[in-house]
Amino acid sequence: MSVTELRTEGRIAVITVDNPPVNALSHAVRAGLMDCLRDIGSDNNIDAAVLTCAGRTFIAGADIREFGKPPQQPFLPDVVLALDGFGKPLVAALHGTALGGGLEVAMGCHYRLAAGSAMVGLPEVNLGLLPGAGGTQLLPRLVGAEAALEMMLSGKPIPAQPARLAGIVDKVVVDDNLLVRAIAFANEVAKKPIPRSSERQMPPVNTALFEQRREQVAARSHGLFAPGKIIDCVEQAVSADLVSGMAFERAAFLACHASSQSAGLRHAFLAERSAVKVPNLAAATPVRDVKQIVVIGAGTMGAGIAYSCLTAGFGVRLLDKDADGIGRGEKTVRGLFEGGVARGKLSQDKADAMLAQFATDTNLANVADADLVIEAVFENMAVKKEVFANLGKHCRAGAILATNTSTLDVDAIAAASGRAEDVIGLHFFSPAHIMRLVEIVRGRSTADDVLATSAAFAKRLRKLGVVVGNCYGFVGNRMLYAYGRENQLMLLEGAPPEHIDHVLQDWGMAMGPNAVGDLAGIDVGYKARKERDDLPDDPRFYQVANLLVEQGRLGRKTGRGTFLYEDGSRTPKADPEVQQLINDEAARLGIEQRVVPDDEIIDRCIYGLVTEGARILEDGIAARAADIDVIWMNGYGFPRYRGGPMHYADSVGLDKVHARVCEFRDRFGAQYWEPPQLLTDLANSSATFADFVK
Ligand code: 3HC
Ligand code: NAI
Repeated sequence: MSVTELRTEGRIAVITVDNPPVNALSHAVRAGLMDCLRDIGSDNNIDAAVLTCAGRTFIAGADIREFGKPPQQPFLPDVVLALDGFGKPLVAALHGTALGGGLEVAMGCHYRLAAGSAMVGLPEVNLGLLPGAGGTQLLPRLVGAEAALEMMLSGKPIPAQPARLAGIVDKVVVDDNLLVRAIAFANEVAKKPIPRSSERQMPPVNTALFEQRREQVAARSHGLFAPGKIIDCVEQAVSADLVSGMAFERAAFLACHASSQSAGLRHAFLAERSAVKVPNLAAATPVRDVKQIVVIGAGTMGAGIAYSCLTAGFGVRLLDKDADGIGRGEKTVRGLFEGGVARGKLSQDKADAMLAQFATDTNLANVADADLVIEAVFENMAVKKEVFANLGKHCRAGAILATNTSTLDVDAIAAASGRAEDVIGLHFFSPAHIMRLVEIVRGRSTADDVLATSAAFAKRLRKLGVVVGNCYGFVGNRMLYAYGRENQLMLLEGAPPEHIDHVLQDWGMAMGPNAVGDLAGIDVGYKARKERDDLPDDPRFYQVANLLVEQGRLGRKTGRGTFLYEDGSRTPKADPEVQQLINDEAARLGIEQRVVPDDEIIDRCIYGLVTEGARILEDGIAARAADIDVIWMNGYGFPRYRGGPMHYADSVGLDKVHARVCEFRDRFGAQYWEPPQLLTDLANSSATFADFVK
């Protein structure tokens, strides 16, 4: 079946784009649109045309999956120019999300009608791109340079009504008859002079705007390439005619498209959509009904998880072992609702309705009505086993029992319940009500329908649920060990903590590893290490962290960790005492200190991640390299524009990564730097992690 269909209603042609799932502008759609224009143009029985889309949305943009493939004519800018210059009135009927190339096509049309629920936007910046089919030239003509820049630099779509007020949309259709109204509208305008976006008088602009925006972008967008180019294009739109403005835009678009940043961001977009598809699970797997949730442990994580579940419409009972714990937890949950209302995120009425579904209890046996239990008690195997033995006794048959453990063996916890098939890991990240990532840990015995239900549940919470296997730390925290290990070793070798943080932050990490440790509490990892009996035999291993904890320097919460936090400040400050402590320990261990070059700081930390990621793939703990990327971008502040550690390694070239890892092995020993077999094999065959399928 063709992805574009042409029919007539009286003297009005109706072009329907039907290219599921989101009517992206694939080559077939672009060619189909051009064919329709040709047919409409040559048909004397047609006075005007409506462009509409089948399915859930108007065109949501260029086809992201075609990027990187050889381009095929007609190119999208040519389609938009053809629409703009067309000799009969064209009316776009927008529903769903008219985004990117979709909005550009709509702006090429001469009128735009939108359903009340429609959203319009130019989100290309999120993909490291700029609107490349006239968007940077047409939108300023419709709404002025300032508002156009705001939309394109933020990438945020706006609803139909504000879009009408801004001048993007001509009319909002509030009933369900968008297409009928659009056809009637086309009949009304059929004989009128055609208002072309290209011929709109650009509203006057104060040219100082462009310098101001450049300064803002330089300060805020961390070296991103596309925002500056968007400003250049809009500046061009002020003086250029459409055709030359679009030629300028095209060159800027191609430069963005060729950048590694855009490749990373496009990978991030697609990886996030593939990661939520559960590997090795039949599509027809049934899901269990989940309405009532019990969260056990009302601490940092339990309260955040309870809030997330309540806002997604579930009933929640929060349990803790004592009145103090439950009191704190309840206060936190209510505080989050108050904050949400104060910031306008939800109305008081909605908050009240959600809180009506909230209860607390200290009776740990009060779980009989739970469809899903999420345990978030202390990170201690004995405590978790006791809780799960209790759940095994008191929960109804078929209830799902989830643990939020961040490291521990899910199979051992599951065994304690006596019904391991119902048990799964749901590893939320802190703060749980904000972080999108959930590692869904599939245990040895986890039933398929428990897995399918958990994936659906994560989606209901509007989180990214990535299925991983069971091992110490799963994917994220297992890799964090390697990253943190190199940071800790380099401290002893002479790299000051503030310098390591600065270098990695400059490289793109949201925070440096030492500031992150202070934020999470250095004691958390310390306690976790104390519980392990498989740590490397190496006196340097996390030794600086150990000493800091033993001196009561636990991080921000004690005002002193690796850094100082004076008078409640949240800004880390280098502390000469810590440097002295590090230097003394290095001397005691016989480590000769040196200046560690910046590129070594980056490569040791990032290739530490990559080599552990490769082992995780070898072990089958992650199904796809892209899943690892999603976890690190969404849970650990890895820069999206680098696409995650595995994509980054692919972009560097695995032969180069392998060579550097071998260099580290030769310099620092095989204990940490023996290249994983997978890395060696892929490097030898000029392949990438993206090619790897277990
Ligand atoms: N191209 C190709 N596939 C796309 C796509 C696109 N532009 N947008 C979405 N898809 C696919 C997704 O990959 C997913 O595929 P899958 O089912 O096989 O996994 C499917 O459509 C559904 O997507 P979502 O899961 O994201 O569905 P939602 O309903 O949550 O969201 C959406 C829909 C709001 C349209 C969201 O997908 C989105 O934001 N898409 C990207 C929009 C965008 O960035 N457009 C600009 C593209 S660049 C451009 O147009 C350049 C031009 O200026 C030249
Ligand atoms: P926390 O110490 O803030 O809260 C734990 C709560 O559990 C306390 O309120 C305590 O009273 C309660 N509790 C302890 N034993 C109990 C029992 N037997 N029955 C009922 N309640 C009991 O701990 P936090 O930080 O919320 O961690 C909870 C779990 O979440 C741990 O497994 C941790 O590893 C995991 N996690 C923590 C993250 C973090 O950043 N804090 C991130 C991701 C996971």
